[in-house]
Amino acid sequence: MTTRVWSYLPEYEREREDILDAVRTVFESGQLVLGDSVRGFEREFATFHDVAHGVGVDNGTNAIVLALRALGIGQGDEVITVANTAAPTVVAIASLGAVPVFVDVRADDYLMDVDQLEAAVTSRTRCVLPVHLYGQCVAMDPVREVARRHGLAVLEDCAQAHGAVHRGEIAGSLGNASAFSFYPTKVLGAYGDGGAVLTADEELAGRLRRLRYYGMDDGRYYVVESPGHNSRLDEVQAEILRRKLRRLPAYLDGRRRIARRYAEGLADTGLVLPAVAEGNEHVYYLYVVRHARRDDLMAELSERDIALNISYPWPVHRMSGFAYLGYPEGSLPVTEMLAGQIFSLPMYPSLDLGTQDKVIDALRDALGAT
Ligand SMILES: Cc1ncc(COP(=O)(O)O)c(C=O)c1O
Repeated sequence: MTTRVWSYLPEYEREREDILDAVRTVFESGQLVLGDSVRGFEREFATFHDVAHGVGVDNGTNAIVLALRALGIGQGDEVITVANTAAPTVVAIASLGAVPVFVDVRADDYLMDVDQLEAAVTSRTRCVLPVHLYGQCVAMDPVREVARRHGLAVLEDCAQAHGAVHRGEIAGSLGNASAFSFYPTKVLGAYGDGGAVLTADEELAGRLRRLRYYGMDDGRYYVVESPGHNSRLDEVQAEILRRKLRRLPAYLDGRRRIARRYAEGLADTGLVLPAVAEGNEHVYYLYVVRHARRDDLMAELSERDIALNISYPWPVHRMSGFAYLGYPEGSLPVTEMLAGQIFSLPMYPSLDLGTQDKVIDALRDALGAT
């Protein structure tokens, strides 16, 4: 059987009773939309992050779209972010008519190069959108400092960083608002799509609740003051996420154990392993390694039935859909270098150790490490 970077099936085998019980609970509750499970999950997810308000939405992309809208960002406003990210980060900004502005990433941890922020600020800048990519946080003190000085909002993209900690504070509590995805592969993943926004700001939370519900107040049905979306978190997914949130610390332990085994097994191979930035507790959403011979290595592993992934092979600023932004080749040199060298190894808490050893052995052989 082909070894892949991710599968939900081993976890489902272990958790089947609880997952099916969650589905049954909702089906028998008499409330299929915006019921007790969504409200309960919103409360528990916010409490887990020590943030006052949680708003469940339909996916991580719309979590960003709605958070930006609630922050008042729209047509022509500039939002500073990175091009080494999943395309939806940038799609969300562009969908509002706002303008994504890219800074490069750092060559050691592949995260936003915060030293470039100041120079990227213009009179049209409204927001900084740091992406806590692969499972660890951007250096938030400089982000917050630049934002404070220029009166900018900070929206954290936490789609890949559930449970990550930065200088003692949890990802999702470090800006004006934070956007999460519960896409099935994520550290906290649903059995379908889901997302959430967290914020300490009560007014912002109120705007988000209206925006995800056509623009209507929960308590004042059929009255729209400002048109919104239909972006509700599904009740079944919310109940599954509630159950899985209780196991999040165990999932993180599992991911860290797998990361330690990769680090031990691949230490002397010449492969560049993930660097944990100072002050960070990494949750290893992805285990991203780097090598100049990336394509050969992936081909050799593919011959042994090991299918690896690249996150991401096309930097967003070089995609044809974003050509209008006008970033020529070479404009983000670290991002572009990484796109040609990085790849991801299988990483999920229920990955069995035998499969992991097969990947380590295959890589050692391909790299000529004995
Ligand atoms: C960094 C990042 N931002 C945003 C998203 C969008 O989330 P979703 O797929 O739930 O819309 C994802 C996931 O694909 C992501 O990895």
